[in-house]
Amino acid sequence: MNDRESPAQRRGEPVLVGRERELDTIVGGLVQLGRRQGAKPVVVEGAPGVGKTALLQTSAVRAADLGWAVGHGSVRSQRLCSAAYGALADSVAQLVAWRPGSREAASLADEVERQAAASAREAAPGDEGWSGPFTDLLAAAAQLADDHHRGIVLCLDDLQLASGDELAEIIEAAGSISEAGFPATLLGARRAGGAACAAAEGLVLQPLDAEATTALVVSLAPREAWTDGALARIAELAGGYPMLVRAYAGAALRRGRTPVDASEVDAGRADADRALCAELLGAEPAQLPGPQRRMLQSIVGLGGHQVPVAEAARDLGASRSFGPPTYLADVDALVERGAVVRSAGDLVSITFPFVARAVIDQR
Ligand SMILES: Nc1ncnc2c1ncn2[C@@H]1O[C@H](COP(=O)(O)OP(=O)(O)O)[C@@H](O)[C@H]1O
Ligand SMILES: [Mg+2]
Repeated sequence: MNDRESPAQRRGEPVLVGRERELDTIVGGLVQLGRRQGAKPVVVEGAPGVGKTALLQTSAVRAADLGWAVGHGSVRSQRLCSAAYGALADSVAQLVAWRPGSREAASLADEVERQAAASAREAAPGDEGWSGPFTDLLAAAAQLADDHHRGIVLCLDDLQLASGDELAEIIEAAGSISEAGFPATLLGARRAGGAACAAAEGLVLQPLDAEATTALVVSLAPREAWTDGALARIAELAGGYPMLVRAYAGAALRRGRTPVDASEVDAGRADADRALCAELLGAEPAQLPGPQRRMLQSIVGLGGHQVPVAEAARDLGASRSFGPPTYLADVDALVERGAVVRSAGDLVSITFPFVARAVIDQR
C-alpha cells in the first residue's frame, strides 16, 4: 500500500493495519455466501485490545461497499435478561432502518419487538421454546434480504459476555439459515479462551507484527516524527497490541517534543499505563470495588503469573472473613474486566504488564 491515504481514511474511518489476510477471509466468505454456497458464521477471537472490534467495523464497511446490508449489536450494551438476543435484535433493528418506509421493514420491526418481548419473558436459554426467537428473527431478516438485497451481515461484538448456551444457539441459528440458501451470516467477536464452537469458523487474531506496528505508529504522526529508538521502544512496550501501540505512541506525542525518542516514550509511559487501565478495566486500579482491588493487589504481589486463586485469597485473609464463593466472584469480575486470565487448575495471571505496573504505582 503506497497510497498516502486509503479510501477509508478519506472517508474519515480509522486505518486498519496488518489485517489484510483476515479481511480477505471475511470478505471471501461473503462472496461465497452471495453465490448461495453457504458459509459458516465467523467468530473473531483474541485478547482485549488486539483489534477485534476494529476488524469487525472495517469488515462491516467492506461488506456495505459490496452491497450487503449490515447490522451491528454488542452484547456489552445489553442489560436485558437475554443479552445476546438483545444484541441480535439491535443489529436487526438497524437493518430495518435500511428500508425504513417499506412494508417488509415495518413487519420485521414488529417481529423484532414481538420476539424481544417474548425473549424478555423467557427465563433462560435451554428452556423450551428458547431456540425460537433467534431462528425466527434471523429467518425473517434473511427473507427480507433475499427478496430485496444482496444479503445481510449481522455483526455481534463482545460475545464472550453471552452465556455458552446463547452463543451456541445464535451461531447454530445463523449457520442453519445460511445453509438453507439464504444470504445471511453472522460475524461475531469474542475474547480468546471461550468454549470451542464447532458451528462457527474461529478466526484467531494475533498481535501485529513489527512492520504493522510501525505502520500504526506512522499513521499517528509521520515517520520523521519518530527516531528508530522510539519505534523500537513502543514495539517493545506494546507487544503488537494496537490498543497499547496507540496509547504509548499517543502519550509520547502529547509531550510535544519531536522527533520523539525512546526517553520520551518512557516519560509518557505512566500516563499511558493509567489510561490503558481505565480503558481495559473500566476504572483505574484505585477506583475498583475494594474486594476486587485487594484481590488484584494480592495477585500482583504474588508475582502476577500462574498464581493459585486459593493462595491469592489466603494472602488477603479472604478465606477467613468471606469464604470461597465471595472471593471467587471477585476473581470472576476481574476476569470479565480483562485484568486477569484464569487457566486450568484455578491459576490466575495478570493479562498485561501495564495492569501490574498501575497496581504497584498506586500502592
Ligand atoms: N489493525 C489495526 N490497525 C490500527 N488500529 C487498530 C487495529 N486494531 C485495533 N486498532 C485500534 O486499537 C484499539 C483497540 O482495538 P479494539 O478493536 O477495540 O480491540 P478489541 O475489540 O480486540 O478489544 C482501538 O483504538 C482500535 O481502533
Ligand atoms: Mg472490542
